[in-house]
Amino acid sequence: MKRIKSLQFFAVLLAVLAQPFHSSECPTTISEDLRQDCHPEPGASETSCITRGCRWCETSAPNVPFCFYDSVEDPTCPNNVPVQKRIDCHPQLGASKEACEAKGCIWCSTKVSNAPWCSFPEVGPYGYALSGQPQKTAKGWRLVLMKRNTMMSLFGNDISPVAIDVEFQTKDRLRFKIYDPNSQRFEVPLKIESPSTAAADTSYDIEFINDPSFQFKIIRKSTGTVLWDTSLGDLIFAKQYLQITTTVPSTSVYGFGEHEHPSFKHNMNFVNYGMFSRDQPPTTFANLYGVHPFYMCIESDSNTHGILLLNSNAQDITLSPNPSLTFRTIGGILDFYVFLGPTPENVVQQYTEAIGRPHFPSYWSLGFQLSRYGYGSLDVVKKTVDRMRQYGIPYDVQYGDIDYMERHLDFTYDKENYAGLPEYIQQLKKDGMHYVIILDPFLSKDEAPGTYRPYELGQEMGIWVNNSDRVTPAVGKAWPPGDSVFPDYTNPRTADWWIQMCVEFKTVLDYDGLWIDMNEPANFGTGQYPGCALNDLNYPPYVPRITDSSLAQKTLCPDSKTYLGDHYNTHSLFGWSQTPPTFIAVQKATGKRAFVLSRSTFVGSGKYAGHWLGDNFSRWKDMHMSIIGMLEFNLFGIPYIGADICGFLLDTTYELCLRWMQLGSFYPFSRNHNGEGQTEQDPAVFGAEFAEISRSTLLIRYTLLPYLYTLFFDSHVHGNTVVRGLMHEFTSDHQTHGIDTAFLWGPAFMIAPVLQEGARSVDVYFPEASWFDYYTGDEVPASWHRKYVSVDAPLDKIPLFLRGGYILPTQAPATTTTRSRLNPFGLLIALDERGEASGSLFWDDGDSIDSIEKEVYFLAKYTFSEGQMRTKVVKNGYRGVDSLIYNTVQVLGVTSRPNAIVLNGNVIRGKDLQYQENGKLTLQISVPLTEELNIILQ
Ligand code: NOJ
Repeated sequence: MKRIKSLQFFAVLLAVLAQPFHSSECPTTISEDLRQDCHPEPGASETSCITRGCRWCETSAPNVPFCFYDSVEDPTCPNNVPVQKRIDCHPQLGASKEACEAKGCIWCSTKVSNAPWCSFPEVGPYGYALSGQPQKTAKGWRLVLMKRNTMMSLFGNDISPVAIDVEFQTKDRLRFKIYDPNSQRFEVPLKIESPSTAAADTSYDIEFINDPSFQFKIIRKSTGTVLWDTSLGDLIFAKQYLQITTTVPSTSVYGFGEHEHPSFKHNMNFVNYGMFSRDQPPTTFANLYGVHPFYMCIESDSNTHGILLLNSNAQDITLSPNPSLTFRTIGGILDFYVFLGPTPENVVQQYTEAIGRPHFPSYWSLGFQLSRYGYGSLDVVKKTVDRMRQYGIPYDVQYGDIDYMERHLDFTYDKENYAGLPEYIQQLKKDGMHYVIILDPFLSKDEAPGTYRPYELGQEMGIWVNNSDRVTPAVGKAWPPGDSVFPDYTNPRTADWWIQMCVEFKTVLDYDGLWIDMNEPANFGTGQYPGCALNDLNYPPYVPRITDSSLAQKTLCPDSKTYLGDHYNTHSLFGWSQTPPTFIAVQKATGKRAFVLSRSTFVGSGKYAGHWLGDNFSRWKDMHMSIIGMLEFNLFGIPYIGADICGFLLDTTYELCLRWMQLGSFYPFSRNHNGEGQTEQDPAVFGAEFAEISRSTLLIRYTLLPYLYTLFFDSHVHGNTVVRGLMHEFTSDHQTHGIDTAFLWGPAFMIAPVLQEGARSVDVYFPEASWFDYYTGDEVPASWHRKYVSVDAPLDKIPLFLRGGYILPTQAPATTTTRSRLNPFGLLIALDERGEASGSLFWDDGDSIDSIEKEVYFLAKYTFSEGQMRTKVVKNGYRGVDSLIYNTVQVLGVTSRPNAIVLNGNVIRGKDLQYQENGKLTLQISVPLTEELNIILQ
C-alpha cells in the first residue's frame, strides 16, 4: 500500500510510532494476511478510509494495509459475497431487495461507497456450460456453450448456444470472440489481420474450466500470471445485454475512454465509466466524444499487458477492488484482443500493429497553432496574427472556426466579415504559415433551391443517415440555419461526395488541413424530428451508465439507419467513419501529407487523424486532466493529441494561461483555442512579459522539434507512444505508476509543469536514472533519485529534465517551422552513469505523402560510449539535407575536462570548445548533416 509520498514518509512514520496502535479498538474478523487494500493510492488516512466504508486498523506488520475491506455488517444476508468481489446484479437504476432477489441475486447493504448492494451469488443461476469438448481449429479453439438455466435472465432474450473462437494470432496477441453461431450480429468493421494458422510459439496459455459454469483463464507462460480470469462472475449473452467479468492481476490499470479521468492510474473502488460518443465538455465520469474500450495493466512483477474489447455499442465498464473489471455492452459481440507486451511500450506497439499505426504528421503541424471560436471577422484575425509577430512568438498554424463560414454553412465562407480571406490565406502561406479550417457533419436542407450545392448533390446521391423507414433522411437541428441532415459516412457513396466537396472547396479556400468537429454526431435536440419512437432500439432494457441515461440526447435516434446498419450499433463509429474519407480528401486536395483533426474517435482513428481533448474549461484542474487525457490517447494509438491551451469555456486568467502555455508548449498537438465570447487568450494579448515567457518556452519546443518529429516517425513505423508516463520507462518502480503530473517525450525528456495557482515550485519525482536540468545542464544529485523533490519554477520557467543515456537531435529555432527547418542542427547528448547514450534523427521534406515508402528520407543513428560519439547514416535518401549542417554538440555528464576533442579527425580548441564545471561540454562545429559525425573526447 502506498499511503504517502516518500518525502512525507518519515514525518508520518514518526507520527505513527508516537501513537499507540489501534488494533484493539478495531474489531475485525479479517486476519492481517487476508486484508485486501481498500486505499491503494497514496494519501490514506483513517478518515478517508472510513469515508469509503472500509475498516482502518493500524499494524506494525510489514506490507499489511491499514485500510481494508471488512466483512459485511448486514446480519440479514448470511450468504453475502465479500464486498470487493461483488458484481452488480442490478446495474440499472432503482435497485431494491425484491427486484434483486427476483433475479436470483443477493441483497446485502454495505457502507463501502459505490459497492453494489445487489450482487450475483458466488455460485449462481447465470452463466453457460460447455457443450461437448473444445474443438481444435487451425487458428486455435472453438467452443460451444449452452445457457445453464434458461429460466433466468437479467434483461431478457438470452442467447443459447453461444460460440467462442479463440485465435492464437501472433506470439503476443490472442483473440477470443464470443458470438451467436446461429445469427449474425453487428461486428465493428475494423480489419485486424487474422492469420490463417495459429502462432506456433505463444507467450500465453488459455485454460478452460467447466465447474459448474464455463470459465476461462489467460496466463502469461513466463511467469504464470493470470491476465484474464472470468471465474468471479458469469457470462451473460443476451440480445441487448452482454456482460463479462475478469479479474486483473493488479490495480495498476490505465486506459478506457473517452472520459476525463481524475487520475491516469484508475481508482478501482467500484468506479463506473460509460462509453458512447457524445458532444460533451469534459466532466469527470461523463462519456465524452470518442470510444476506446482498451486498457493496459501492469502486473505485480512489472510485466504489462493490454486488452481491447472491439465493440461499438453503448457500453460501460466497472472497475472493482478485487481487482476486477466488468464489461457491459448492449449489442454486437464480445470480441477481445489480448496483447502480452511485456513492456508498456510493447503493448502499445502490438495494439497499434493490430488496429493501425498512427499517421505521420507533417512537420509544420508540430509547430504552435492558434484558434478561437468567434474571432468574428478577418480584421480580428489579422490583429491577432500581427501581435503574435510583433512579439516574435513561434507560430505555424492559424485556424478558421465556424465563424469563417457564411451562416455556419459548410463549404462557404462569409464574404462580409471574412472578405479577403482567400487572399489572406495566401499571405499567411507566403510567410511560411499554414491554415486549417473546420467542417461540421451536418448540412442545412433549408437553403433556397439551387443555392446550396453540397446539400443538393448529397440529396441527389442519397447519402444521408435515414429515419427508421430507411428512406427519409433524419432531420435534426445544428449550427446552420434551418434544419440539417447528416451524411452517413459508413456509406461509400458518402465518402465520394465528401471527398468531392472538400477537393472542390480547396479552390475557394486554400486550406492545408481539415478539422472535423461535432462528429459524435452532435444534434441539438434529443433525436431527430419528431423524436424517437418507443421501441427496443431507442429504449433498450438496459441503458449503460452514460450521461443523461439516454442514447438519443444531443444526437440521433438509435433506430436511425446507416449503410452499416442501425445507428444503435454505429453511433460511436460516426466520427471514425468520417475520418478516412477526410484524410483522402486532404491528400487529394493538397497533394501533401494529410492533416485531419477529429473530435470523435474510435479504435484505429489514429491512422488517419489527431485529436484534441474537446471543450475543456479554463480551470487549473482541467490543465492537470489534460495530461491524463494526453497519456491515454497515446495508449489508444492517437499520439497527435493536445488540449485547448488556456481552456475553451470560461474566461482564463493571466497566470493560468501562462502556465498552460508552458505546459501546452509540450503537447504533441500544441494549439491555443478559445470559446465564443470568452476574453482573448492568445499569448500575445497579455502584454510583453507574458509574450516573452511564451516565446521562450515555444523556442524550446521548436529547438527540440527534430526529436519530436523522430518520435512521430518511430510511432508511425513501430507504434511507439510519443508522450508517455514515467511508468512506461520505469515500470518496476511502483512509485511511478500513479504519476500523472509529469510526463516524458519519448524515453528521454521529462516535462514537470506547474499545475497550481500561485505555485513557484514543483514536486518532481526522479526515478532511478541520470537526470540533467535542461536549462543549466546540472546533473540531478543521486540523493534525489526515487524521491519527490521540490524544484524551483518561477513564473517564467517550466521544469524540464533530460534523461541520461539519450541523444536528442535539435535545430536552431525560428518563428515558423518553414524557417527553422533551414537552420543548423545540434545534438544534445545526456550521458548515463556508464558514460553512454544513443539516439536518432529522422528528416525528410516534412510534408510529402510517402517519403517513408519511397525512401526519400534521411536517418542517422548516434551512439556514445567510451568517450566517443559515432554516427551511422542509415538512410541518405533525401537531398534536402545536403544544405544542412550540425553547428553545435552539447554533452552533459562529462566527468572531467577533456584534454582535447577530435572531430572527424580534426582537433577542436579555443572558443569552439567550452567545458563547464557541472560536466557540460559545448562544441561549436560546422559539419554537413550527411557527414558521419565522429567525436572523440580525449
Ligand atoms: C465545438 C468544438 O469542440 C469547439 O472546439 C469549436 O470551437 C466549436 N464547436 C465551434 O465550432
